[in-house]
Amino acid sequence: MKSKIQLLGPFTQLLPMSQLPTRGALKDSSIPIIEDGGLLVQGDRILDVGPYADLLNTEAGKQAEKITTTGELVVLPGMIDGHTHSCFAGSRARDYAMRNGGQSYLEIAAAGGGIWDTVTQTRKASLDVLRESLVSRCRHFATMGITTLEVKSGYGLNPEEELKMLQAIDGAAEEVPQDLVATCLAAHMAPRDFSGSKTAYLDWIATELLPVVRDKNLATRVDAFVEETAFSPEEIRPYLEKAAEMGFDLTVHADQFSTGGSEVAIACGAKSADHLEASGPREIELFAKSDTIPVALPGASLGLGCAFTPARQLLDAGASLAIASDYNPGSAPMGDLLTQAAILGTFEKLSNAEVLAGITFRAAAALGLEDRGILDTGKRADFIAFPTADYREILYCQGQLRPSKIWIAGEQVL
Ligand code: NIG
Ligand code: FE
Repeated sequence: MKSKIQLLGPFTQLLPMSQLPTRGALKDSSIPIIEDGGLLVQGDRILDVGPYADLLNTEAGKQAEKITTTGELVVLPGMIDGHTHSCFAGSRARDYAMRNGGQSYLEIAAAGGGIWDTVTQTRKASLDVLRESLVSRCRHFATMGITTLEVKSGYGLNPEEELKMLQAIDGAAEEVPQDLVATCLAAHMAPRDFSGSKTAYLDWIATELLPVVRDKNLATRVDAFVEETAFSPEEIRPYLEKAAEMGFDLTVHADQFSTGGSEVAIACGAKSADHLEASGPREIELFAKSDTIPVALPGASLGLGCAFTPARQLLDAGASLAIASDYNPGSAPMGDLLTQAAILGTFEKLSNAEVLAGITFRAAAALGLEDRGILDTGKRADFIAFPTADYREILYCQGQLRPSKIWIAGEQVL
């Protein structure tokens, strides 16, 4: 039996974010806006989008259940946070205080801080505890309008502990309203308790972990941190190539403090390369010529007090640009995509269109997802409504204007 049809609206402004270019600069004048718009939804999919009065007169509209909204509302596709480390245990408030007190990365690591601290805490946590804390974080993100959330492993750093993290993510996905996209980040750094070389560690996880992750369908994506403190481009390339041969999509933590990561990501055909705070003209040129999507992580710039990703230059060169929160206990503890995207816009001089594209359809493309990020026939019915009459208020309020209504897969969750 087909699920019932619903007609929602009228919405003061409906921004389907469709028919916009997948890459390059965008002007606000290019955003299609439907005044007094409506949405026809069947089950978890969008049946039609258009002026409410027109939809009301269609065959489907006539028989649909009417969900009539009142007051000023601006509707957008649900936000997609395509890069998070939301599965973790413990806090790194001490690192944050030490960093702001002027202490260096090495001093913080020597005091027991850094990624390894979170690995230690996460290994100590049970699968159930990890799953429950992830569920509560995801529910919080859902109320903020995040309808798809990527979640990485990477705080286990051996086959058993990485599988525990991925199983926690898999279990959480059953309990939360939004769609979770799991990514295996076993190549986050070489674990301190592994006695062999970095290459030997990468060979170990490629042999012992990735086939299990694939066979149990625990992740479809593989990520790696390419940096002096983690893996060099030369060390990581054979690992990425093996993961691609096994059928995983690739993404890379690239050019955060030094370059080399984006080049290897692009050479290996990664779907995205994320961070890029250190990318220069050479890397920007490579992105302009490639299909690998650059992803800015303003939460890490704010958390560490570092430069922002050169978003303006990437867009002007003709590259795409997605924006994600990088929510994690170390470098990006804020976990607020809307606020961070708005702030990136002010520092990088991005249009509303560029920022909104970066957290909707361009974020979907960075995750390799074609069924969301725009509001159009056949796409997932993930959309959010802000209590305003003018869409420009959303970024202007820098995160202080939140969605007052949220639908995920056709279900109203707020
Ligand atoms: O994306 N850069 C590497 N990984 C994370 C930080 C993780 C952590 O510090 O726990 C990031 O910023
Ligand atoms: Fe990250």
